Order: sequence, then C-alpha cells, then structure tokens
Amino acid sequence: MVEELGTVITTPQGPNPFDFSFVIDEKHSESVHCGEFISVSVRNGVLLGTIIDIIKTNRYFSRAESVREYERGGVSLNAIFPADRWEFMIARVKPLGIYSENHLIRVTNPPSPGTKVYTMEKTLLEEVLGFKSESGLNLGQLNFHEIPVKLDLTRLLQKHVAILAMSGAGKSYATAVLLEELLLRHKKHGRLAVILIDVHGEYDSFTLQPENGEFHDFSERVKVFPSPFISLQTSLLTAYQIAHLLPQISPIQVRELQKAFANVRKTNKNFTFQDLINEVEHNDEIKTQTRDALTSWLFDLYRLHLFDSRESPSLDQEIEPGKCLIIDLSETLNLRKKQIIVYYIAQRLFWLRKNNKIPPFLLILEEAHQFVPEGAKKDNAISRSILETYAREGRKFGAALCLLSQRPVKLSTTVLSQCGTHVILRITNPNDLDHIRQSSEQITRESLEMISSLPVGEALITGVAVNHPIFMKVRKRKSSDQRKFLKLDEVAKEFDK
Ligand SMILES: Nc1ncnc2c1ncn2[C@@H]1O[C@H](COP(=O)(O)OP(=O)(O)OP(=O)(O)O)[C@@H](O)[C@H]1O
Ligand SMILES: [Mg+2]
Repeated sequence: MVEELGTVITTPQGPNPFDFSFVIDEKHSESVHCGEFISVSVRNGVLLGTIIDIIKTNRYFSRAESVREYERGGVSLNAIFPADRWEFMIARVKPLGIYSENHLIRVTNPPSPGTKVYTMEKTLLEEVLGFKSESGLNLGQLNFHEIPVKLDLTRLLQKHVAILAMSGAGKSYATAVLLEELLLRHKKHGRLAVILIDVHGEYDSFTLQPENGEFHDFSERVKVFPSPFISLQTSLLTAYQIAHLLPQISPIQVRELQKAFANVRKTNKNFTFQDLINEVEHNDEIKTQTRDALTSWLFDLYRLHLFDSRESPSLDQEIEPGKCLIIDLSETLNLRKKQIIVYYIAQRLFWLRKNNKIPPFLLILEEAHQFVPEGAKKDNAISRSILETYAREGRKFGAALCLLSQRPVKLSTTVLSQCGTHVILRITNPNDLDHIRQSSEQITRESLEMISSLPVGEALITGVAVNHPIFMKVRKRKSSDQRKFLKLDEVAKEFDK
C-alpha cells in the first residue's frame, strides 16, 4: 500500500530536475530513511527518486547567539516557547527517472513545490529495479522495502563482479549465498559451473551433510581439492607458459626452452617436468652458461612439487554445470606457489572454455589482491595477466570472474574497472573508499558515506546488475556456516580443555 510521506518544498537550489527536497509528515518522522525509494505523481507519469540525505531543522535554534543567551539565563528554550512543534525533518531526493508507459525516462522538469511525496509501490519498484525475473539470483532483501533482491544472472556475471569490504564485513558470507543460488538454479534457466579459489579453506562446509535437516545439503554438488592433491600437468603447458612462471628468464633461455620443449614432446607426448629438465641438462648444443641458468630456473619450479604427468583435479572432467569445484589453498603458504596454481587453472579453464570443452563458468577468487595485484612487479604477479584477460575478454566466451578483496587499493585498477558490478559492504579505510569511487561512476558522495557505516551483512550494489545503486541485506545462508576458524575465545577454551 502506498502512503503519503510529505510535501515538496522550495529550497535555495530547488526543486530542480536533479535534486529536490520534501518536508516529512510528522507521523513518518521515524520511518523515513536515507537510501529509501519514493514516488511523486507528475504530469507525464510517476517520478521515482531515492532519499540521499535527511536533515532536522528548527527555527528556534537557528541563531546561535539567541540560543546561548536564553540557555545562559538557565532557561530552556523548549520551556518557554513551543519549540518542539517547530522541528521539521527535510529529506533530499535524487530523482532517478519518470516511469511512463513501462519505460523510465529522464527527468527534465522538477516536481512543483507543494506536490505530495509517496512511498514506492512494491511491484513498480520491483519492475524498475529489474527484480521481477523468476530465475533471478536471490541474494537478500532491499533495505527499507520488503522486496527480494533478485539479480539477473547474465547482468550480474557476464561483465564480472567485485565484492569489496573490510575484513569481517561479510564478503565470504555473501559469496556463499551467491554460490548457493548458482547451485540451486534450475537447469531450464541455464546453470554455470563454479570454480572457487578458497585461500583460507572457508567453504568446506558446503560438503557437510546435515543430520537433522538443519541446513541444505549441497554435498552432491560441491567437491573440495586441498592444495596437496593439486598437480599441474607439464605436457599441457607450452614453453611460453613455463617461461611466464619464471619472470627473470632471459630471451635466450626462453628460446632454448622452446627447443627443449619441442624435442621432449617428440619422444613422449605426456612428458614430465623431470623429462624437460633432463632434456635441457643433457643437451650439448646449448651454451654451458645458458644451460646451467635454465636448468637452475627449472629446478626452482620443480622444487615446488606442483608438476606431474597428470592434472589433478582433472579440469575437463570435474567442471560441470550447476556444480562447484573448490580449490582449497589454505595449506599453501607460499604466495608464488598459490599464484602458479591460479595461473595454471585460469589458463586451462580459459582454453577449455574457448574450445567449448567445459560449460560457461564463474571463477571466484578470494583474496583477489594476491592474484591480481596493482603495481606489483611481474615476478610477484604471475597470475595477473591471465586474470586481466578474463576481465577484458571473458564475457565473449562465457568465462566470468567474481573477485573478493578487503584491500581494493591493492587490486589491479584494470580489473576493478572492468568489473561491471560492485557489491560493496562496510569499508572505512579512506584510501579504499577513494579507490572505489574512482572505479565506479555510479557511486555518489552520499553513498560513500553510507558505506563506512554499514552493519555486517549489508551491501551497496552498483553497476550493470542493477538499474540503480541499491542498499540491501544479504540473506541468511542455506548451507552450513561452520568454519575452520573459531573465534579467539573459542580457540582458547578449546586449548584449555
Ligand atoms: N549476511 C549475514 N548474515 C549473518 N551473518 C553474517 C552475514 N554476513 C556476515 N556474517 C557473519 O559475519 C562474520 C564475518 O563474515 P565474513 O567471514 O563473510 O567476512 P569477510 O568479509 O569475508 O572477512 P575476511 O575479509 O576476513 O575474509 C561471519 O562470522 C559471518 O557469520
Ligand atoms: Mg572472507
């Protein structure tokens, strides 16, 4: 039901087509909020707007000298004047458009002073925000409106999504909710495969089986591969890709590596890393100096114990629509090793997808700043170039990215600005806020202020997935929220026991 909220007033700036204010009816003084959507009937349709600021004013308290004079005499202004009756709440509104004949058109003429302002009608708001689709991904509820936030899969993921927030604000929780929606999606609506790079081993609870139906059973749809079980198949790599893992390798060494690759492949199609090293080490045609340097580089990689004659998990077998493969890197501390794993997986997935050997997929990266860092030297950013390729070209092939980070400043600007949608939970660091403002055109100064005071689990969504930036509450998880990491006091109690 639509309720009257107040009346449009004249202010020094407006009403103008981009900004107007209304005085809030007394009975609504507690129930109107920043971020809420409102409507105003205008000549050519319904004007929709969002409240961007609320201020309280009282003319009895507008002159500092008279307030001080009265209070100095020990007299409260409220006691001698009906001051409380002169308190007004004024809401500032940013018009979003005029809804007319199923279309949202630009506001070119402001509402007149005196026009009534109303709450937004639920179905109209759903329509305007694009949340009506039966197959939308239900991530939670719109703030101040009882409307489920149902995002269209293509709009949310085709141009990639970044989930940004300070530590503990709810990024992983929101990602778990997104994952649930993808796994529960019906075949007829189109299902993606999901590959999740889980740096802290936080998502294993998806494989738990409920005993008393206390959570939804996803165990059939999710497989976890901890890093000790991960191996990269040497023969599936090219000489160029191996060279990419060795950023300090010289052009001459690369040339010799290419030759060695060709030779070893001739004798055995499924050659191992050891075979490659042997080939280089025993090839007298390579100059001693080059040979020694190249052998030592290759040994350096070999010592990471990552390469094998077969790939595990076998990506072309394990990637299926409506299923999720979790790569659990929690046991790997070496950043270079983690980056090599991510580089290999991202390369392979891209190739497999381009050749239509696996379904369209979403690659979710926790701690994305570790894999696509801004400004880091090449040797500390092995996985950056392939992930930048995803950001630029992935949408053409059905390869989508979801990047999570608690340090947006450290995340590649190239990648961040290619992410069509930003889900932003609480962030207080001014540098991070500034970085976000620069990478997203839709973020206003007012929303930036609201981001720093968001409670855990509340988010601002901006970008192509939503017609307008929205504030929302991420819904409760259906999967188990059991984590490997206990709270500090729980760990201490556990230890004492
Ligand atoms: N929407 C939500 N509803 C209920 N609880 C939530 C919600 N979002 C987060 N939480 C709780 O808040 C805590 C922190 O959330 P989460 O682990 O998702 O934070 P994070 O942003 O991923 O932090 P980090 O950067 O440290 O990984 C968790 O214990 C989680 O249960
Ligand atoms: Mg997290």
